Amino acid sequence: MVPDSASVEQVADKSLVRASFGRAARGYDEWAVVQRGIGDRLLGCLSAVPLPDRAEILDLGSGTGYCTRQLQQRQANVTGLDIAPQMLGTARAGQLVDTAYVCADAEYLPVADDSIDLVFSNLMIQWCRDLQRLFGEVARVLKPEGLFVFSTFGPKTLSELRAAWRQVDMHSHVNHFAAESEIEKAMLRAGLINESLECEAIRVVYGGVLELMRELKGIGAQNVTCDRPRTLTGKEKIRRVIDGYPGRQGGKEITATFELILGKCSRPPADRERIAWRG
Ligand SMILES: C[S@@+](CC[C@H](N)C(=O)[O-])C[C@H]1O[C@@H](n2cnc3c(N)ncnc32)[C@H](O)[C@@H]1O
Repeated sequence: MVPDSASVEQVADKSLVRASFGRAARGYDEWAVVQRGIGDRLLGCLSAVPLPDRAEILDLGSGTGYCTRQLQQRQANVTGLDIAPQMLGTARAGQLVDTAYVCADAEYLPVADDSIDLVFSNLMIQWCRDLQRLFGEVARVLKPEGLFVFSTFGPKTLSELRAAWRQVDMHSHVNHFAAESEIEKAMLRAGLINESLECEAIRVVYGGVLELMRELKGIGAQNVTCDRPRTLTGKEKIRRVIDGYPGRQGGKEITATFELILGKCSRPPADRERIAWRG
């Protein structure tokens, strides 16, 4: 059987994801300007959403807790969940009120069925191996009419860097990003209702290719694809990537595209429910 593209395992190994974000945890906030901006937009989408008193909120891939702390201001019981213990350590060190933090994989949630009013996730989904499994888990833990609000990156993300590397060798140097259609398919298969799914290209200017690479390393966004190169990259190859980066007009400045996907979906009311997937 040909595997569904939504379930093709592009993330080679979760331990690589955990280790890479773990190493980045202490310096993450200094680098994560793009991530915070997107987090603010996602939080903004929630401002008009009514939540019950003492709502149960789960922040998936909570990182150093920037969004978790703001969700806490909604007078809710917020739990931050992340696969990297060092991220949770940094989040705990910066917390003002008592927030629960759990170290776990979002594809295998240690959370009771029908227990969460809002699942929130800023830029974690692209690190998952199996979208079907992730959305199935979210559908399982949400209460009927509960909401899942998320951001992730689509396939045009870092397309310039991908193109530059393609001229150098045949390895995969940039992570795989699922398309909007794959995300929608996984969401609907999990029995969730698509409330909105938007896609938009964000272009960020960097002082050079090395600055972009440093930022990716600084936030822990390491290449975790199955066919990544297994040896250290030499200076000569890096020079060719810099020279081949599209759109450089003489100067050093470059632009990197991030294809932002913002989604909102909900679990149907109990009387209209037909969950197709239960992990
Ligand atoms: C780009 S950071 C975003 C952190 C935070 N949401 C923010 O807005 O700054 C992605 C986070 O997702 C976590 N992560 C990656 N894969 C995960 C998984 N399968 N389950 C839980 N967390 C995961 C990483 O450890 C990292 O902290």
